[in-house]
Amino acid sequence: MLKRTHTCGQLRDAHVGSVVTLSGWVNSYRDHGGLIFIDLRDRFGITQLVFDRESIAPALLDQADKLRNEDVIACTGKVRVRIGGPNPKLATGTVEVVVEALEVLAKTDNPPFLPDDLASLPAEETRLKHRYIDLRRPRMQGILATRHRITKVARDYFDENGFLEVETPILYKSTPEGAREFIVPSRHIPGSWYGLPQSPQLFKQLLMVSGLDRYMQICRCFRDEDPRADRQSEFSQIDLEMSFVGREDVMAMMEGFARRLWKAVLGVDVPPIQRMPYRECMERFGIDRPDTRYGLEIRDVSAIAAKTDFRVFRDALAKHPDAKPYFSKRGVVKAIRVPAPHAEKLTRKLTDGYSEWVKTFGAGGVPVVKLNAAGAFETGVAKFVEPVRAELVAALGLQPGDTVLFAADTYAVATKTLGELRQKVARDLGIVPEWGKAWNFLWMIDPPMFERDKDSGRWVAMHHPFTAPREDQQDAFVAADPDDDQAIESIVSAGYDLVMNGSEIAGGSIRIHRPDVQAKVFRLLGLSPEQAKDKFSFLLEALRFGAPPHGGIAFGLDRLVMHLCGTENIRDVIAFPKTQIGADLMTGAPSLVSDEQLRELHVKSTYVPQKP
Ligand code: AMO
Repeated sequence: MLKRTHTCGQLRDAHVGSVVTLSGWVNSYRDHGGLIFIDLRDRFGITQLVFDRESIAPALLDQADKLRNEDVIACTGKVRVRIGGPNPKLATGTVEVVVEALEVLAKTDNPPFLPDDLASLPAEETRLKHRYIDLRRPRMQGILATRHRITKVARDYFDENGFLEVETPILYKSTPEGAREFIVPSRHIPGSWYGLPQSPQLFKQLLMVSGLDRYMQICRCFRDEDPRADRQSEFSQIDLEMSFVGREDVMAMMEGFARRLWKAVLGVDVPPIQRMPYRECMERFGIDRPDTRYGLEIRDVSAIAAKTDFRVFRDALAKHPDAKPYFSKRGVVKAIRVPAPHAEKLTRKLTDGYSEWVKTFGAGGVPVVKLNAAGAFETGVAKFVEPVRAELVAALGLQPGDTVLFAADTYAVATKTLGELRQKVARDLGIVPEWGKAWNFLWMIDPPMFERDKDSGRWVAMHHPFTAPREDQQDAFVAADPDDDQAIESIVSAGYDLVMNGSEIAGGSIRIHRPDVQAKVFRLLGLSPEQAKDKFSFLLEALRFGAPPHGGIAFGLDRLVMHLCGTENIRDVIAFPKTQIGADLMTGAPSLVSDEQLRELHVKSTYVPQKP
């Protein structure tokens, strides 16, 4: 039997009277006595099939009676106007197919769950274990189709703009780039290991030295870090690099892509994207990827707090009072105004919870005060801040019914605390706009080159070690004393991130193309000249053989798909994702390998399997 003439999403009134063959999965089965109705499903849609007990051959009826959900069948029959009236929920809802021939292509075992978007979903573990069934759901197929659309728009847009797609190696050199790497042993060179690329960063720079001028790649990146809601250890980027450009050129090109993409996928016009310097992001939003869809902005109230006798404020302000304003260790007092009527939902239980929660950011707690209907402070730390009420009311624009949340700590801790807290408060109070209601883009620019790692105390690159200082900062950087924290912290880089609704959807920079600047960065990051040579000699060498000024960016493809599809779980947008501990529940990866395999690779495992 012919397998199909049409898809299950194709038939319309114009097909009435024609004989067609459809193939697909039994989505539902309803026995109405004289008639059996089957909804047949494939990627393209659902079509109703009718088996008429009166007119059908007995052998066929017997087969039809045995059909169950998720059996795979092919059916031939005549298209007619749907007798029971149209079903507006289906694109094919005005017609049905009266079956004359049926072939069962595959019977199914009892499935662990049905791929029904309307039914409540089973536990994610079950979905991941039987991913091939989960991917039958129309929602999942829609997401994969959108993902395809996004990569197609990307390839078209960048092709039109002169970019060449070039593939770069997956088996690569182990290089420190930020996250922990995955490594793969070499069989041919005993004791040696490949690293899987955290991104194709150095290859794309080398392609610029090669004169490729404009590069793009939809590539896989590997980072052995703990997965989160918007992070996977194996993820995809739309990776880009351009020669003979400044950051405005790169940002303009990428803005054009974002605009094209939102228009193509959602029909949304993205207005020109504002730029916000890192300092402003941190001052107003406490984070380098501000979500500007709701207020709850942060204000520095240190000068007012200094006039109170509140010990928590005074102790904080005693830390490095003479340092530069944004020095990470300087004490500050910052505040968020939560306006009425939302503030009414901020119960004591919630705010007590916040005081506990912020300890993860190193803060001692969250002092709270409310401005009551009579215009006086009450609850929390009211008695301490009552003497400066007029100044706080003016500085924060307080109205009766508002609540104020404070953070008193070092600049780094207070900023981080309120940056995280404002997002939590917005979620708790339900003031984050629903998906599709707001698309707030911004370019975060002028981030610092370095920050101190809070665990090791060492300097780390804010973006990566190949990001250049901003053009006007290069000489100051080369001259800066590595032991002068304030001087190093204040060097601004030529990096930029594209932020959308509080999510970093792309990050990039203009790169270092001066060998002396690159060498100083490595030194500052604690790499001795020998280590830098060992790890990056190919780069340092290439920079000496005529490197054009260049810069680029990478979009997180999975994140783009998440935003454009309205899901908050990155696993929803990857066909075969991994769990929180990097496991693939379907294939069972990672798994033990034989001693022989290990021997061949010159590797000895210290792992001793546990007895069951
Ligand atoms: P960066 O590390 O900022 O830059 O990554 C670029 C973008 O990739 C996405 N992303 C991730 N998505 C899912 N899971 C992850 N674990 C993950 N990590 C990052 C984010 C991020 O904005 N080579 C540089 C780019 C450049 O400088 O050109 C890089 O990889 O959306």
